[in-house]
Amino acid sequence: MMLVSRGRARAYAAVGLPRPARLARPRGAPLCTVAAPAPAPPVAVAPVDETLSVAPMMDYTCRHFRHLMRLLSSRAVLYTEMVVANAVQHNLGDLERWYGCTDGHEHGAPRDVLQLGGSDAAMLALASRAALAYPYSAINLNCGCPSERVAGSGAFGASLMRDPAHVAALCAAMADATGGALPISVKCRIGVDDDDSYEQLRAFVDAVSAGGGVRHFIVHARKAILNMKLSPADNRKIPPLRPELVHALVADYAGAGLRFTLNGGITSLTDARAQLDASPRLAGVMIGRDVINRPFYYAHADRVLYGCADARARAPPSRGDVLAAYAAYARQQLQLGARESGLLKPVHNLFHGEAGGRAFRRQLARTLDEHGARAAVLALEDVAAACVPDRVLSARADERAPDAPEREAERAAGVGVGVGTSSAGMDASHSLSHAERGVQSYVC
Ligand SMILES: Cc1cc2nc3c(=O)[nH]c(=O)nc-3n(C[C@H](O)[C@H](O)[C@H](O)COP(=O)(O)O)c2cc1C
Repeated sequence: MMLVSRGRARAYAAVGLPRPARLARPRGAPLCTVAAPAPAPPVAVAPVDETLSVAPMMDYTCRHFRHLMRLLSSRAVLYTEMVVANAVQHNLGDLERWYGCTDGHEHGAPRDVLQLGGSDAAMLALASRAALAYPYSAINLNCGCPSERVAGSGAFGASLMRDPAHVAALCAAMADATGGALPISVKCRIGVDDDDSYEQLRAFVDAVSAGGGVRHFIVHARKAILNMKLSPADNRKIPPLRPELVHALVADYAGAGLRFTLNGGITSLTDARAQLDASPRLAGVMIGRDVINRPFYYAHADRVLYGCADARARAPPSRGDVLAAYAAYARQQLQLGARESGLLKPVHNLFHGEAGGRAFRRQLARTLDEHGARAAVLALEDVAAACVPDRVLSARADERAPDAPEREAERAAGVGVGVGTSSAGMDASHSLSHAERGVQSYVC
């Protein structure tokens, strides 16, 4: 049960959701109350093949970036950035921006996953229910984000791992809200602070699968350190990677119908293949930063990881083809009223490590500064033509691409190429309203 303002009723109707009951709330009472949901029955929906998934990344895996990735891979499963469930009720009239999906129907099933963050069952249920209007293959609950705003004051993300029964109740509420139409998965760490034994990880999996009906766990193979005020970036670097624990889960739950995806530190298709070969029952691998840093490299994913043999898999598009297709999409999005600035960031690293890549980013930033975001979006192809040599524009991805020494050189030179180092003027969030910032300003 929850409270809604009268003004929001129209927004609920716009997305086809029934308006929740209006209740009198005593002063000081919590905004939401929810009865503990009954354990959800296991979901019967056939899971999609998640051999490769692109990780949820705040400020990066927006619908425009996912569109770019869909141009490169028709098979990879693409996770949204975390959508904070409590913010959904304030954005019901404008959900397309947060919930918009790529066209993943080419292979018979949607291939986008909505990631939600929160610890309030009613809010997560509302946000899950709203997802029914979009072609998602699953909804994922974030139990791995270590940032202070999320796992500290927000009391969700990684801190949820300390309360497996609550996570189970949240997942059950989310499954109930969709009537079992969408599988609910959980993305977690291997532990939190000193609660980092394999037994505790198993206890988490046991409780969440038994009480929440969850069948798929995506495990970032590092623990989250919450008691030392590490930045989220340090929490992705400092805790050691322990992929062997995820492989152990795969082996231990082989007969229990649970699926596990390994995340953390995978930086090539070769790495991905090696992890999949190490445990043939592994549901898949999830890659985050490397995809952001060099998206074009993943044009080979359909062939290398899914064994696709169609024309596109055999001869993936060139960078020029991808940019042209993305530019056409961006122009269409402008006509539909999408925010201009958010359309630029996805192509930021399209020429990563290649001649002209740095010039492309700089010229784009200059156009943005001098003429505004709309002009920069409309100039994407011209900027590339002016800065990037033809041979780079027409070359196809090289799956044997080394782990780019240029990348290291660029990093050393402080050039904004890697995740979290966007160049001046390229920050997609600068034109957001206050309510939208409420969603955007969480960092995972
Ligand atoms: C910029 C950035 C934003 C992230 N945002 C999220 C998020 O919204 N939800 C989440 O579960 N994890 C988030 N993560 C963590 C990634 O999903 C992933 O677990 C982590 O980067 C480890 O994978 P990798 O080594 O392949 O990058 C984020 C990571 C980065 C770099």
